[in-house]
Amino acid sequence: MKACVNTRYGPPEVVHLEDVDKPVPRENEVLIRMHAATVNRTDCGFRRPEYPVIIRLVNGFFTPRNTILGTELAGEIEAVGNNVGTFRPGDRVFGLSTKKFGTHAEYICLPADASIAIMPANVSYEEAAAVCDGAYMALTYLRCVDFTTRRTILVNGASGSIGSAGVQLAKYFGAHVTAVCDTKTMDLARSLGADDVIDYTKEDFTRCGQSFDVVFDAVGKSSFLRCRRVLNPGGTYFSTELGFMGQNILWTLVTRIAGGKKLLFPLPKDTKEDVVFIKELMEAGRYKAVIDRRYTLDQIIEAHRYVESGMKTGNVVLVIEKTGPI
Ligand SMILES: NC(=O)c1ccc[n+]([C@@H]2O[C@H](COP(=O)([O-])OP(=O)(O)OC[C@H]3O[C@@H](n4cnc5c(N)ncnc54)[C@H](OP(=O)(O)O)[C@@H]3O)[C@@H](O)[C@H]2O)c1
Repeated sequence: MKACVNTRYGPPEVVHLEDVDKPVPRENEVLIRMHAATVNRTDCGFRRPEYPVIIRLVNGFFTPRNTILGTELAGEIEAVGNNVGTFRPGDRVFGLSTKKFGTHAEYICLPADASIAIMPANVSYEEAAAVCDGAYMALTYLRCVDFTTRRTILVNGASGSIGSAGVQLAKYFGAHVTAVCDTKTMDLARSLGADDVIDYTKEDFTRCGQSFDVVFDAVGKSSFLRCRRVLNPGGTYFSTELGFMGQNILWTLVTRIAGGKKLLFPLPKDTKEDVVFIKELMEAGRYKAVIDRRYTLDQIIEAHRYVESGMKTGNVVLVIEKTGPI
C-alpha cells in the first residue's frame, strides 16, 4: 500500500510517498481502507517538534517511532479480527488515531475500542475526516467550564481547527460567543454561531472594553497577563500553547494557589465517546466541518508546508481514495 513516511525529524521534505506492507488486523482490530485524513498541527508538531524534548521523549529521541503521521481518519472497514463484534466489513467509520498515528496511508489497523465510530449518515468522508481533532481538543478545555453559571466566552483564533470547533461547541453549551479572527474569516465565524466578532487586524481584543467569563486562546497568541484585564472575577483563561518559556504551566500552579482569575491547562485526551458525541451533533445539524484546502497523497509535502504556516482556515484534508471532486 502507499503511505507517507518520515523516518527522521525535520522540515516538510522529510515526508515521502512509499510502498509499505499492508497491515493485517489482530483479533481485536479492524482494518480500515482509508478514504480521507487530515494534515494537522499535531502532524507538524511531531515531524518538526516545537518542544523537541517532550515530543522526542514520547516519539523516539533520535528517529520517530511513528513513521507514518496522521491522526484523523474516515474510511471503510475492509476486515475485522476474530474478536470484533462491534464493526463489520463495509461499515463507514471516522475518528482519531492519536496514539499510533498512521492515517496518512491507504490502510490502517486500529483496535475496535479505539476512538472510532460509525460515520454520521449525512456527511462525506472528507467532512467526517475533518471534525474530530479540533473538536476533542476544544472539548478538553470547554468541559472544564460550568456554562450554567459562566455564560460568556471569547475564542481567539476562531477560524483555526480548534477555534472553529470551540465556537461551535461553546454555542452548543449555551454560551454567548465572541470570536476573534481576521477580516476575511469574520463571516465564517458568524456562520459557526459567533454572536460577536472582533477583527484582530483592527482591534486588540484585550482592550475591547468588554469582559468575559472565559477566554479561550485556541491559537496560543496571547498571554494570561494580557488577558486578565478582560476576564470577569473568577474567570478562566485557556491557551493551546505552553507560552513563552513554558509560563502557562507556572501560571496554572500560581493561580491555583492564589485563587481568583485562573489559568487552566488540561491535557487533551480523546475517547470513543467524544467521537460518538461529534457524530450525534453533526447528524443533528449542530456541528459542521470547516475545510480549507484538499491535497492528495502525492501532494503531502505541500500539505505540510501549508499547515505549518499556521494560517490555514479550519482543516486541511488529505484525499486518499477519491470519492468526489477535489
Ligand atoms: N504542537 C502540537 O503538536 C500541536 C498540536 C495541535 C495543536 N497545537 C496548537 O494548537 C493551536 C491551534 O491549532 P489549530 O490546528 O487549531 O491551528 P490552525 O488551524 O493552524 O490555526 C490557524 C488560524 O489561526 C489564526 N490566527 C493566526 N494568527 C492569529 C492571531 N494573531 N490572532 C488570532 N488568530 C490568529 C488564523 O486565522 P485568520 O485566518 O483569521 O488570521 C488561522 O485560521 C496552535 O497554537 C497549535 O500550535 C499544537
